Amino acid sequence: MSEPQWERTLKVTTAEQTHALAAALGEVLEAGDLLVLTGELGAGKTTFTQGLGEGLGVRAGIISPTFVLVRIHPNLADGPRPGGPDLVHVDAYRLESAAEIDDIDLENTMDTAVTVVEWGRDRVEHLSDSRLEVDLYRAVGMPSSGDDVLDFDTDDDDEPRTLVFRGYGPRWAEAPRLVKTTSPEEGN
Ligand SMILES: Nc1ncnc2c1ncn2[C@@H]1O[C@H](COP(=O)(O)OP(=O)(O)O)[C@@H](O)[C@H]1O
Ligand SMILES: [Mg+2]
Repeated sequence: MSEPQWERTLKVTTAEQTHALAAALGEVLEAGDLLVLTGELGAGKTTFTQGLGEGLGVRAGIISPTFVLVRIHPNLADGPRPGGPDLVHVDAYRLESAAEIDDIDLENTMDTAVTVVEWGRDRVEHLSDSRLEVDLYRAVGMPSSGDDVLDFDTDDDDEPRTLVFRGYGPRWAEAPRLVKTTSPEEGN
């Protein structure tokens, strides 16, 4: 499963657009889905996950897990998708191997939840025969080194982001509709 079935690139200019895009995706996700989010600190992985949570209609309060590896956000009976999947939000930054991932028993919740893993690349692929990868990039040319490094991610100012979606495995044989129809770079 080293080759994606498809790849789509979307560009956004505000955190709200990242959130809204993820919320639209959250509306079509199903229990058992595995999402792997990749991007440097401050790229917007948690912002994206918050949007997913809204679309899924799970309990609010999604934050950067940081010291807590896994948080479960139950689906809300009075939300937009009552009876729909829960959201399991994982930060794998401190986990160094697939074996450490296995220790936190994500298999137990995968069947009833959408599992979203920040820093999941090379750590969680074995959990499912399918996965949706989302890579978030700060715009090319933004300062990210040298003297500017102390300013990194210290405010909420909107900045452009490039989001690259890739589908692997049978679940993602086709790109989700929103990714298809809103992509300005269809077919790249
Ligand atoms: N276009 C954008 N998309 C997502 N976040 C953005 C965007 N522009 C600015 N931001 C800000 O960048 C920060 C992203 O933080 P976060 O989502 O916690 O990143 P990560 O989880 O990848 O470390 C937030 O403060 C958010 O408001
Ligand atoms: Mg985060």
